Amino acid sequence: MVKLKIGIIGGTGLDNPEIFTNKNEVSVTTPYGAPSSSLITGQLHGVDVVLLARHGRQHETNPSSINYRANIHALKEIGCTHVLATNACGSLRDEYRVGDLIILDQFIDKTFKRECTFYSGYEGGPKGVMHIPMGHPFCEDTRKCMIEASKGFGFSFHEKGTIVIIEGPRFSTVAESKMFRLWGADLIGMTTVPEVCLAKEAGLCYSAVAMVTDYDSWKEDEPHVSVEIVGQRLRDNAEKATKVLLKAVELIAQRDWDDVIKRHKDVVDGSVM
Ligand code: ADE
Repeated sequence: MVKLKIGIIGGTGLDNPEIFTNKNEVSVTTPYGAPSSSLITGQLHGVDVVLLARHGRQHETNPSSINYRANIHALKEIGCTHVLATNACGSLRDEYRVGDLIILDQFIDKTFKRECTFYSGYEGGPKGVMHIPMGHPFCEDTRKCMIEASKGFGFSFHEKGTIVIIEGPRFSTVAESKMFRLWGADLIGMTTVPEVCLAKEAGLCYSAVAMVTDYDSWKEDEPHVSVEIVGQRLRDNAEKATKVLLKAVELIAQRDWDDVIKRHKDVVDGSVM
């Protein structure tokens, strides 16, 4: 049986290493450069875990400048089989309310200046042309664990949600926000892409829990999104995401992942030309 190791990518305000036991800090580098932060290794429920702060430990890296390839490569290299990501996001629907958690299942990609594949002919990178399938970007088996993990705490969560990922760092105009609603997006964020795509290329079991901090810019009876609003709502709700992650690690550890990991690897191997 493959030995499990679970990477946790902490988003804005959701990257607290205090939840681990046997903590150790490791600085690594990759063929793609340095990841956003050092890796904090440790254990949760006796399972090996690794925490990475997506924006750096002082939140110094903006979404376009995050070295997503280095982050995913570093987690893969250190032996992660799974990655659980946390994200702050805006809501584009009345039914996704501030403080709600969502186990993401789809994205719409509006980014335009990010390295989105490991297969770009980079020195030290893998060879060939990669066309990774993206119909279901997240690992369904890991998503199921995250959904199970979200039950029983009494807070509102959603089993699905389509997130539109914008380049940022600016927030959206009213017109853009309304357009994203027409496109069918439920949520809006800045970091899920290319992170989930690279995780899929790396054969990782990747799932993300997003937390609603605001209603972006479309809703007439709500203030438009701002750094102040996002920060305040994260402080009010961050412990929810932590609870879900803790429980998800416990549930993931209860099953055998060999078949799932093999399936992911077969998809990767069959997608290089
Ligand atoms: N992160 C949190 N809220 C957001 C929003 N409204 N747009 C983009 N990213 C966000």
